[in-house]
Amino acid sequence: MDPKIKSAYLAPEGLLEPLLKEVDGIVSVHDRLILSSKPFIDAHWAQNIWENPITLSIDSINDAAKKLKGIQRNWCLYSFTLHRRAKLIEEKLNSSKPRPTPFPSPLPTQGTGSWCLLDENTLLASSDCSSPFPNGEPFFIEDKKGPPNRAYLKLYEALTLAGKTPKAGEFCIDIGGSPGGWAWVIQKCGADVLSVDRSPLDEKISRLKGVSFEKRDAFSLLPEEFEKEGKKVDWFFSDVICYPEKLYDWLAVWIDSGICKNFICTIKFKGEPEPEIIKKFAAIENSKVVHLFHNKNELTFIKPGNVR
Ligand SMILES: C[S@@+](CC[C@H](N)C(=O)[O-])C[C@H]1O[C@@H](n2cnc3c(N)ncnc32)[C@H](O)[C@@H]1O
Repeated sequence: MDPKIKSAYLAPEGLLEPLLKEVDGIVSVHDRLILSSKPFIDAHWAQNIWENPITLSIDSINDAAKKLKGIQRNWCLYSFTLHRRAKLIEEKLNSSKPRPTPFPSPLPTQGTGSWCLLDENTLLASSDCSSPFPNGEPFFIEDKKGPPNRAYLKLYEALTLAGKTPKAGEFCIDIGGSPGGWAWVIQKCGADVLSVDRSPLDEKISRLKGVSFEKRDAFSLLPEEFEKEGKKVDWFFSDVICYPEKLYDWLAVWIDSGICKNFICTIKFKGEPEPEIIKKFAAIENSKVVHLFHNKNELTFIKPGNVR
């Protein structure tokens, strides 16, 4: 394929458009995979970025598997063409199948490479991918009984990427916390949590030890309240539904106060996302703004005290 592919971006299901706006040098688009002639950028809307892909000529299924195995052990296929041939190569690769992991678990240490067939005799492969999960899809062992909704999976994913979790003895605030999926995760980690929302928590969550609740407007909650009482806040979680600009201004007050080091917030968009506001979040020191597999039309801002 001409010109040379220097990066590739896998879009989340149903969210190709915002990624197309972020990526330059687009050569072609294959379902959810964007191929670019420019070096990779940290695209916020990518589910996985193939950072330095190489193009390999192959003359058979065996040859393809041999060449990939010669690079590394674990590979994940993104198939958009010649599905049968791709599947046969995949079978020969015999990569370990991803299994649902318990939470918390450390990030996988062995990276998974990504590959696809471009045509019958050419494949594109990258052993340098942004996501530690195959095709950017983490799977956790689900809990159908404890949490009141599936929002807990989003926090599982964010905390796994942050590389740390709230601990016993820590105090967390959980803004826009109802019905309590996130509060359930935080409590399960052993920390105390104050959830704030205009709607009540699910009863089974509000009864959990270490969970408290205040019914009030999220944006009236300011660091002074805690400073006055000499109370530390270890984690600031927000899943509140609001305009990104409003979240940014309020979050900035909390970050500037220095009262809290760890932040995880969803940035929700109504319709088309606004790149300018995303840039403002991304410019906050020691933070990252990513699209989680469990996010819909939203991004997640992660600023753990220890981010690289
Ligand atoms: C996506 S839900 C949160 C789900 C929650 N993280 C969980 O795990 O169950 C968003 C919440 O934001 C709350 N909300 C929206 N605007 C708010 C405001 N100004 N003040 C407080 N809560 C608000 C809504 O009531 C809703 O419960």
